[in-house]
Amino acid sequence: MGQTSFAVFASGRGSNFLSIYEAMQAGDIQGEITCIISDKSGAPVLSKASELSIPAFHRSPKQFESEESYVEDVAALLAEHHVDYILLAGYLKKIPGALIQRYPNKIVNIHPALLPSFGGKGYYGIRVHEAVIAKGVKYSGVTLHFIDEKYDHGPIIYQYPVRVRDDDSPEDLAGRVLQYEHKAYPRVVRWLCQGWIQVHNQTTTFTGPEEEWEITL
Ligand code: GRF
Repeated sequence: MGQTSFAVFASGRGSNFLSIYEAMQAGDIQGEITCIISDKSGAPVLSKASELSIPAFHRSPKQFESEESYVEDVAALLAEHHVDYILLAGYLKKIPGALIQRYPNKIVNIHPALLPSFGGKGYYGIRVHEAVIAKGVKYSGVTLHFIDEKYDHGPIIYQYPVRVRDDDSPEDLAGRVLQYEHKAYPRVVRWLCQGWIQVHNQTTTFTGPEEEWEITL
C-alpha cells in the first residue's frame, strides 16, 4: 500500500497536529503530512511545522479578492503537495463549499464534544465546554467527522465519551477531552490509510477490528 498524503489546517496551538505527526513518526500510520495551512499568520502551529521541516503556509480568505480565487490558490497548494485528505485540527474558518466539492468525504474535522450536541456556529474552543457544563450532561467526548457545508456537520466517523465531573471547570473538561483527542485523531487517520471507513449517504461504516474502538490513556 502506498503512502496517503494529508494536509492539516489549523488556526492555533497545533497539539492535534503534533499527535498525528508523532504517530506517523512512530510508524503507526502509513501516511505523511505534506503541508500545513493556517488562516492565522502568527499561529504556533506554523512555527512548529517549520521546525519539523513540514511545508507551512498562511492562507486566509482576506488575502484574496474573491472566495473563488482563495479556493483556486488553496486547491493548487493541495495539488502541489499531492494531498489525499485534509485534516481540520482546531481550524476556525469555515471551509468554502467549492473546496469541499473538490474533496468530497475527504475533509475530516475534530470536535471536542459528542455531536450533534454542542456543535454548530459559535461552539468552538472553551465555549463548547462551558455549554456542556451549563447543561449538566454527564458525558461529553470527542467526535471526528467528514465535513459538509454546515458547521460541525457531516458523516460521523468516530466518537468516544468522556465523563463530565461535578466539580469540572470548563478548562478541566477541555484538558481531559484533549487527552482523548490526541488518541482519537491519529487513530482515525490510520483508519483512513487502511481504507477502513466507508461513507454511505450521510453515515459511515467501519470495517476494521472492533478492538480499534477502545481508548486507554
Ligand atoms: C481542539 O480541542 C479541537 O477539538 C478544537 O480546537 C482545539 C484545537 O487544539 N476544535 P490544537 O490546536 O490541536 O492544540
